[in-house]
Amino acid sequence: MVKVRKAIIPAAGYGTRSLPITKVLPKEMFPIGGKPAIHYIVEEAAAAGIEEVLIVISRNKNMIMDYFDRSLELESFLEKKNKSHLLEKTEIPNVKIFYTRQPFAMGLGDAILQGKEFAGDETFAVLLPDDIFLYDQKSPLTELIEQCNSTTSNVLALKKVPSEALTKYGVVKETALSSNVHRITGIVEKPKKNPPSDLAVIGRYVLSPRIFSILEHINPGIGNEIQLTDAIAELIKKQSCLGKVISSERFDIGVADEYVALVQRLH
Ligand code: UTP
Repeated sequence: MVKVRKAIIPAAGYGTRSLPITKVLPKEMFPIGGKPAIHYIVEEAAAAGIEEVLIVISRNKNMIMDYFDRSLELESFLEKKNKSHLLEKTEIPNVKIFYTRQPFAMGLGDAILQGKEFAGDETFAVLLPDDIFLYDQKSPLTELIEQCNSTTSNVLALKKVPSEALTKYGVVKETALSSNVHRITGIVEKPKKNPPSDLAVIGRYVLSPRIFSILEHINPGIGNEIQLTDAIAELIKKQSCLGKVISSERFDIGVADEYVALVQRLH
């Protein structure tokens, strides 16, 4: 059984779909129910048994480090002012958090490559911080890790999306093994025509460290960016890869309507 202990959260993008606010406020810090989006992501990682998280940031994202840091000054202020009951509001999920910087936003694949030393030779998880799920008991990452544990395979989170939306996603070629588990035989980033299925990859992955040597040599793809999808397409040729269809509701906070809907659900 593979123990998935580490997770990479890439948070170094410019958030161009959410401009102008992302000039000063990282998308990962958008407030949802009084907490920033990335809090829910780290919480999901901790709940799935992850012990160490690497957040990949960039120059203007130090606010993320500040948020997860303890503020002794604030804590003593609350105690002095008889507001100790508010201390629990300053608590953060119980995982060890590390940070690294991606020097240039060269794509999701390049952001993940920044975690090569962190992951070492361990199978690791990736959580995209703009994809937030509302789940009852099992989080999407827990579902992926359980699948990985029973099959020692790479596992990608999948969701059925309407055909007109497939051009925005990595789309898989697959064979169904059961109603919600698929063997992935191919993957295409943002297919302009003839998508291989209606199953899109969404923001959770469990990957073997073999992905790093592929990412190191891969050429830029769509948008002249190092695409994680292109590296996964190579990985599939060497190792088994499954897809798990996630039934929890998903919100892409880079899409204004979805962000507003999520805020309304969690206020
Ligand atoms: P997105 O493409 O959704 O985020 O990447 P973005 O680039 O920040 O936003 P838009 O599309 O321009 O609005 C998914 C995740 O990968 C990170 C982003 O921060 C986001 O959390 N990412 C993307 C990086 O860390 N580095 C990159 O070079 C690209």
